[in-house]
Amino acid sequence: MHLRPAAAADLPFLIEMLLEACNWDGTPWYDEAKARADDHAWRYLDGWQRATDFGVVAEVDGSPAGAVWARLLTADRAGYGYVADDVPELTLGVAAGFRRRGVARGVLAEVIEQARAASYGRLSLSVDPDNPARKLYESLGFRKTGVVGTSDTMVLDL
Ligand SMILES: CC(C)(COP(=O)(O)OP(=O)(O)OC[C@H]1O[C@@H](n2cnc3c(N)ncnc32)[C@H](O)[C@@H]1OP(=O)(O)O)[C@@H](O)C(=O)NCCC(=O)NCCS
Repeated sequence: MHLRPAAAADLPFLIEMLLEACNWDGTPWYDEAKARADDHAWRYLDGWQRATDFGVVAEVDGSPAGAVWARLLTADRAGYGYVADDVPELTLGVAAGFRRRGVARGVLAEVIEQARAASYGRLSLSVDPDNPARKLYESLGFRKTGVVGTSDTMVLDL
């Protein structure tokens, strides 16, 4: 597995990963058209790559396998895992054929280092309590700080 910083040209793959995150329980709630039309989903990638956006793409045998990215959102257009304007929120997805081999853990470890290098104090995210990703986040030190709808907001102090 090769990890590299996410770039502007990764937008098509990041859209795929956004859809994986939106459809995490296997129900095809979103396709790209619906995600683009729903600002609650599209705000995670609208205008990618903004100056403050950062992230990591994992490649396996030259193909993108998974990605995580961090975006600053604002209170007036908050993400599901929003905690403050200066706390980047993460979105994570791994393509179905590449799961259970450490891709998510790998990209998350790297994005945490990117956030530390950029001197952020915290990272946040939103996760359904039934999503297996929750255990992964806990193992990396994220802790639950609140509930929005049915999802938990989790925060990592850097
Ligand atoms: C959740 C997801 C990102 C995990 O990606 P992955 O590359 O398969 O995860 P990893 O192989 O790095 O696994 C790391 C840990 O996550 C947990 N985990 C991941 N998938 C799991 C599953 N299907 N069942 C149980 N635990 C799981 C385990 O704790 C695992 O650690 P272990 O392998 O030591 O047991 C991936 O399944 C995915 O993209 N799902 C759809 C999108 C999504 O849910 N994104 C997160 C939204 S908050």
